[in-house]
Amino acid sequence: MDNLLNIDRLNKTQVEDIIYLASSLKKDFPHSTKDSPLKGKNVIFLFLESSTRTKTSFNFACSILGANVIDISPKSSSMTKGETFENTIKTISSYPADALVLRSNENNDINIAKNILDFPVINAGSGTKSHPTQALTDLMTLIEKGVSIEKLKISIVGDIEHSRVARSLIELLNLFGSIINICSPKYFKPTDLKNISHFEDLNQVLKNVDVLMTLRIQRERIEKYKINFNEYSDKYMITEKILNEFNVSYLMHPGPVNEGIEIDRGLQDSSKSLILEQVKNGTWIRCAVLINILLNGKL
Ligand code: CP
Repeated sequence: MDNLLNIDRLNKTQVEDIIYLASSLKKDFPHSTKDSPLKGKNVIFLFLESSTRTKTSFNFACSILGANVIDISPKSSSMTKGETFENTIKTISSYPADALVLRSNENNDINIAKNILDFPVINAGSGTKSHPTQALTDLMTLIEKGVSIEKLKISIVGDIEHSRVARSLIELLNLFGSIINICSPKYFKPTDLKNISHFEDLNQVLKNVDVLMTLRIQRERIEKYKINFNEYSDKYMITEKILNEFNVSYLMHPGPVNEGIEIDRGLQDSSKSLILEQVKNGTWIRCAVLINILLNGKL
């Protein structure tokens, strides 16, 4: 039995294999999944935070592969009556499930679930620390564009401090030796990412860069900062003019996008934007992860 809790669980070969499988499934669809390889498998979804992309693509992946989804809605679950997360997971452990797909705002919930359950746990985004399937999706998107990941120069701009996407992507790209810079105002400078160059000035990280990833301002996590969003976007909002001026090849964003804050209105539709490609590839990465864990028993 295998879980997918964090990127540090994977080595380079495993990452390459997951992306190869995801790309093959995508390329040969619907032929690639016509035998419903996960028919008869039961996957529980527990999404304790909102999600469009991750939840829908796990749902599509299960549907395409023939697995049943048992979706526990937090709003109509007994958590609203005060049942703790730990007791909810103990309750889930009583069912004949083949996997739990979990999203939570608490960093450690994924480990609590793993320690209680005797079936696999797949991280669909935990707290501010880890979002492994998003990082794999982003890497697949770059590889698909012919980007050499070993030679990649990428800058990540925005709320790095609260970004599980940034942390997982940095861990993943470090396996391949990419050059990564991060850029944010002081209040979003991460305290835990020591070996990475941080800049406050956007112009500094845009020099000589192939790919720019900008991050969502996560209003739900930053109330205490009392941020002036106009000031933030004056300094950090990405525009078409910026992409062209600095010769950036591709713009990425994990979504959801705050247009007019971290990226300009309409920029999602720019020819340099990979944002909808990232969404598209999410389904195939989640298919590959589910097949490896549920069918092959390992990543
Ligand atoms: N990127 C991402 O996790 O998006 P959702 O919150 O919509 O799933």
